[in-house]
Amino acid sequence: MGNLDEFRRAAHAHADWITDYFEHVRELRVVPKVEPGELTASLPHSAPEHGEPLENIFSDFQSSIFPALTLWNHPRFFAWFSVSSSPPSVLADFLAATVNVNAMLWKSSPAATELEEVTLNWLRQWLELDDQHFGIIYDTASVGVMQAIGAAREFADPSCRTEGMRPGLTIYVSEHTHSSSEKAAITLGFGQNNVRKIPVDDQFRMRADLLEEAIQADIAAGRKPCCIVASIGSTSTTAIDPVPEIANIAERYNVWLHVDAAYGGPAAVVPEMRHILKGVERAHSLILNPHKWLYVSIDCSVLYTRFPEVLRRASSLSAEYLRTAEDEHVVNYMDYGVQLGRRFRALKLWYVFRYYGRQGIIVMLREALRLAQVLKSLVEESDQFELAAPVPLSLVCFRLRADNAANERLLAEINASGKAFLSHTVLNGRFILRFAIGNFQTTEQDIRETWNLIVETAERIKAGEPATVAGR
Ligand SMILES: Cc1ncc(COP(=O)(O)O)c(C=O)c1O
Repeated sequence: MGNLDEFRRAAHAHADWITDYFEHVRELRVVPKVEPGELTASLPHSAPEHGEPLENIFSDFQSSIFPALTLWNHPRFFAWFSVSSSPPSVLADFLAATVNVNAMLWKSSPAATELEEVTLNWLRQWLELDDQHFGIIYDTASVGVMQAIGAAREFADPSCRTEGMRPGLTIYVSEHTHSSSEKAAITLGFGQNNVRKIPVDDQFRMRADLLEEAIQADIAAGRKPCCIVASIGSTSTTAIDPVPEIANIAERYNVWLHVDAAYGGPAAVVPEMRHILKGVERAHSLILNPHKWLYVSIDCSVLYTRFPEVLRRASSLSAEYLRTAEDEHVVNYMDYGVQLGRRFRALKLWYVFRYYGRQGIIVMLREALRLAQVLKSLVEESDQFELAAPVPLSLVCFRLRADNAANERLLAEINASGKAFLSHTVLNGRFILRFAIGNFQTTEQDIRETWNLIVETAERIKAGEPATVAGR
């Protein structure tokens, strides 16, 4: 870029826009009113031949790109898992892009490596995990679970590293485990037929007794159990699997236990919620996503393991051009995953942890947990609606006491209103609305007003008014 004066002016204008965004986002639609392909049709077919002023690009961002975005950082975004990019995280990403370091080796950027160690140590202490836990940041939990299952394979049979996949290595998940574990099994060559989906109980938690039966049956058939994936905060309902019982089984059969706490894990920073991590100290690996519920922008997922050497053996392969004089004495994070190039994600953890402090984060997490209980009570007090699952964290699953079509229509109409955005799941054949709370700006008024919208929309549907939108 030739003209840094232009950059300075643009940077100030961008900073003003970002601040206004945080201040006024509540007034905007959560879901845009756009049709597939509409934006593409409005943009030039090929890239510009000559450069354009930043001012024009920024102006087009505001007039055509921004209006076609679903606003994940909106206080009434309640779909999937509500995530927050808090202001300190935004600033850190701005800086990380500026210095643009690659955190592959200690040598390639000493502070990026050491800040990753320091911040993950802080988080480890907040979670009350002992100092045997080594931490690493991956982009997403999907990549993290693939690395964890890769480590489990190395633990079960180190010959796979050189000889390729051994037939019969088996993975155990529940019917409600996030699909990323099965995807990892496909990617790593286990094959979908070697993933056992253990049934859940009436609260959607993995049945430990059936897990043990499945493991015994596989051993009797000459197979080798390789990895169990337990969830703390499953995707559909935030069910918490019985990790202590599952850890007993993992130890009895010497199988790697991976705990997926991608969404639920951060809640354990709140002292009265620490119990959700019971048994995790016996797991071989654990994932939690600061980008889901720790006020850090996408992407940032943390894996802890008590077996870093196994993870390293599963992933490391150094080339001569990457050898450095410090290798013996430092952590080179590239050795613990498939990625060589790594963004400076620790910087946003450092900004967020320092800006809010542990107490500030506890206050925000506790508020989300409280708001979920407020909403749960509203559902329980209503004759029209019913809860569809327990509410251990900040997700409320509920449905209108009506058929699936009425519930689908309810979701579609709320989302089309632009005033809030919810998602759905299907439990035992029933269509369920998911209302996930977690944005740092969400207030009780947001919850109550959205609930009123849900009730009014349901009344219109029940009164037989014609549908205003098609599909979900
Ligand atoms: C429980 C759980 N695990 C893993 C994932 C995957 O997360 P990521 O988007 O970081 O890959 C999700 C996504 O919602 C999830 O809910």
